Amino acid sequence: MERGSFLSRGSSSSLSSLLSLDEKSFLPLPVHQKARIRVPALLGHSLYRRVILWCAAVLSLSCLALFGGIRHPRGAILDWVDLRPTAKDRFEEPHMILVLPAANDTTEVPEGENMPSWLRFRHLNGYFNGLKALVPASDHKPEYPRLSGEESPFPLTVTYTGLPTPTPFVPHPDYESSDYKVKHHKVEPCYLDKDKRIPVPDLYAYHGRVQGQPDPIIGSHSLLGLRDDICFDRFGRYGPYGLGYSYDAGGLEVGLDTERRGSEVVWEKTGKINYDKIGIDWGDAQARCYESNKRRFAGSAERGSPLQQSLRRRERTTIPRQAVVIRAFTGFQWTHHAILNFRAMVSELALRSGGEYQVHLLLHVRNEKEPIWADPVTAQRILDENVPDEFHSLCTLWTEAQMRLLYPGDFGPSVEDPSGMDIHGVYRSAHMALQHFAMSHPEYEYFWNWELDVRWLGNYYELFDRLGIWAKKQSRVGMWERSAKYYIPKYHGDWNSFTDLVRNETHASGRSAIFGPVEFPGKAPLRSETGGKSFLPASCIDGDKSECGVGEDADLITLNPIFDAEESGWVFASDVTGYRLTDPTPPRRCAIVTASRLSRRLLEVMHEETWRMHHTMFSEMFPASMALHHGLKAVYAPHPVYIDRKWDLDSVDQAFNGGRDHSAGGHGSPFDLRNEHNHKGTTWYYNSEFAGLLWRRWLGYAQFDGRGTNGGRSGEGTLRGGREEEETADSTGRLCLRSMLVHPIKFEHPSELE
Ligand SMILES: *[C@@H]1O[C@H](CO)[C@@H](O)[C@H](O)[C@H]1NC(C)=O
Ligand SMILES: *[C@@H]1O[C@H](CO)[C@@H](O)[C@H](O)[C@H]1NC(C)=O
Repeated sequence: MERGSFLSRGSSSSLSSLLSLDEKSFLPLPVHQKARIRVPALLGHSLYRRVILWCAAVLSLSCLALFGGIRHPRGAILDWVDLRPTAKDRFEEPHMILVLPAANDTTEVPEGENMPSWLRFRHLNGYFNGLKALVPASDHKPEYPRLSGEESPFPLTVTYTGLPTPTPFVPHPDYESSDYKVKHHKVEPCYLDKDKRIPVPDLYAYHGRVQGQPDPIIGSHSLLGLRDDICFDRFGRYGPYGLGYSYDAGGLEVGLDTERRGSEVVWEKTGKINYDKIGIDWGDAQARCYESNKRRFAGSAERGSPLQQSLRRRERTTIPRQAVVIRAFTGFQWTHHAILNFRAMVSELALRSGGEYQVHLLLHVRNEKEPIWADPVTAQRILDENVPDEFHSLCTLWTEAQMRLLYPGDFGPSVEDPSGMDIHGVYRSAHMALQHFAMSHPEYEYFWNWELDVRWLGNYYELFDRLGIWAKKQSRVGMWERSAKYYIPKYHGDWNSFTDLVRNETHASGRSAIFGPVEFPGKAPLRSETGGKSFLPASCIDGDKSECGVGEDADLITLNPIFDAEESGWVFASDVTGYRLTDPTPPRRCAIVTASRLSRRLLEVMHEETWRMHHTMFSEMFPASMALHHGLKAVYAPHPVYIDRKWDLDSVDQAFNGGRDHSAGGHGSPFDLRNEHNHKGTTWYYNSEFAGLLWRRWLGYAQFDGRGTNGGRSGEGTLRGGREEEETADSTGRLCLRSMLVHPIKFEHPSELE
C-alpha cells in the first residue's frame, strides 16, 4: 500500500457517474433485516417494483411509529432489528463446537522482586478470540477481571453455526419519533453530495460479545450509557467510509489484505460508496448540513421574528452546538487509515446529527516564517502539502508567532520549566490556540480538544453524546475527589459504592472536600468575579445542596483522573507561570492526555487569565486548574479501559490509586515519572504499548504478542493474528470488540513501519 497516495489521486469526477451506483442506495432503508422481499422477481416492471417497495416501507414504518416497537430512549435501531443470525443462507457450513482453551501460561516469568506490576502478571488471551465465538451478552464469561477465588471460565465451548450478521447501529436520538419532534425542531437529513442523493451511511455492529473477552478493568460502559452488548469488527466500523474496497470502486484499498469473510453485508444497503466520484468535500458537506438545520440550534439568528414565534403554539427547545477541534500539524503523515478515522468523525458527529457537532482541523503551521495570512497561495500550498484534499475545508491555520501577537506582554518567571520551551509554544501552551479558536467561533458552546493519534472503536456520536449526558448528571458535591480517582468497578462496586467510598476516604483524610472557587495567596478575580458573579448554579447556593450541579452541563470533561499535581512527581507539575514566586505555588489539578471537552465559559476564563493576568501552566494542567480556581464544573468520565495482563485487583488499585488518600494525585501518584509504566499495558495512556497492539490486531494485521522472558515487551514474542491465522479453519475469525478509546496509535498498516 502506498502511503500518502491521496496526493496523487485524481480530482473529483463528474457527479453524473454516480448514477451507476446500485439503485438500492436510493431506496429507503429496509426496516427489518429478515424481511428481504423476494417479490421483485415476480414484478418485472421496475416502476411497480419501486411503488410496492415504497408502500411496504411506509407501512412498516408507520406500524413502528404506531406501536412503538421496543424503542431505546436514544433510538438505537439495533433494538428493533431482528438479531437472530441470518448468515445460514450465506454460508453453508457444518455446526462446529469451538473450544476456547485456557491461557498457556508456561512462557511467563516468575514474580521477580523488582518486576513492575505491569510485567509481573500473565498475559490475557481472550481479547484475540474472534467473531465465530460471538455469544449473547448474557452468556458472556470474561476471562478477566476476577475476584480472588473466582475460577477461570476456561476452557469455554461455543457452538458455531455460521457467521453472524451485523446490523446498523444508530446511537443518535430518534429524530423521527413523535417524542423528539414535540420537543425539538425538525431534523433535516444530511447528505454526502450536493445533489442530496447519497445519505450518510450507518456503521454496523454485531449483537453480542465474543466469548471469553475480558471486561474493562477501569471505567464502565453501562455507567456512561454506552452499549456493551454489541461489538464492532473492522468492516462494520469502517466499511461505510471506504475500508474493504478498491480505489477503482472509490474506496481506500485498505483491509483488502486482511481476512474478510462475510464482510459484504456492510454494503448491501448503500452499495460501496464511491468517495472519489462524489468528490467528497467534508467541510462543504458540514456547511450544507448546518444550513438546512440551523433553526435547531441555540444562538441562531434564523429562529424567526418575535411575531412568528408568538404565533407558534409550542416553543421548541434549541440545542447547543459543539465543535470537535482536532489538533493537526504540518508534517503529519496522513495514511488511509487516518483518513477513514476522520471520515467517520465527520459522518457520525456532524452529518448524522444534523449539524449538532462540527469537526475542525486546527492546523499548526510549524514554520513561522510562512506568510500564511499575507498570501492565499501560500496557505493553499501548505494545505496541499499537508492535508488530503477532502479535509481542506475543515482547516484553520495557526502559528506560534500568532500566539505571541494575541497574548503579548511579559509572562514573568515560571516556578519550574523542565522543558525549556517557549511559553507561547504548542508544547507548553497548546490551550492558547484553542482559546483563540473559541473566541473566534461564538457559535459553539462546547469544544472537544482532540488528538490525531486517538481512535474510538465504535460510533463517535455515542461516545461524545453519552459523556456529555453523564457529566451533566453528576453532582458537584464530592466532584473533585471522585474525579481524582480511577474507578475500578470490579474492585469498588457500583457507582454509588464508589461515591460512598470516596466520601469516606475524604472524611478519613481530615481534609475538607473542595467546593466552589478555591482561594489562595495572590489570587486575582476575573472581571466577572469583581462584579460579584459566580459560576455556581442556583442549586448550589441555598438549601441542602443534594442537587448541587445535577443537571448542569460540565465545563470540563476529561478522560483520565483530574489529579492534584502537588508532590505528584508528574514531570511538569510545577510548570506554572505568571504567579508571584514569593507566594506558595497555587493549587493545581491536571489530567494527562489533552483529549477533553471544554465549555465556552471555561475557555473564556482561560483566555482572560492568559491575556490579562499573564497566567499559564503546562498544557495538561491549565484547564483543570482554571476550573478549580474559579469554581467551574469539572469531571473525569470513567470510560472503559482494558488491560493486557491478569493483574490481581489489589495491585490494580495500589498502582492506579496509589497517591495521597487513595487517589491518583499527590505523593505516590500513578502519573509520577517512576510509576507511569503501569499504564503501558492499558488501552489508554500516552505511553501505552497495548493500545496499538490490540488496535492493529483488530484491523487484521499480525502483531508480536509481547510474550517473552522477563515479562515480555512490545515487539517481542511470536507474530500472532493477521490474515493467515484468522483464515484458518480452526481460528475463531476476525476480532469483534466492544467500544473503547485507544491511544496512542502511532501507526496502523504494517507498511508504515518500513
Ligand atoms: C504452551 O507453551 C509451551 C512453551 O512455549 C509449548 O511448548 C506448549 O506446546 C504450549 N502448549 C499449548 C497447549 O499450546
Ligand atoms: C462508608 O462509611 C460508612 C459509615 O462508617 C459505612 O457504613 C460504609 O460501609 C462505608 N462505605 C464504603 C463504601 O466504604
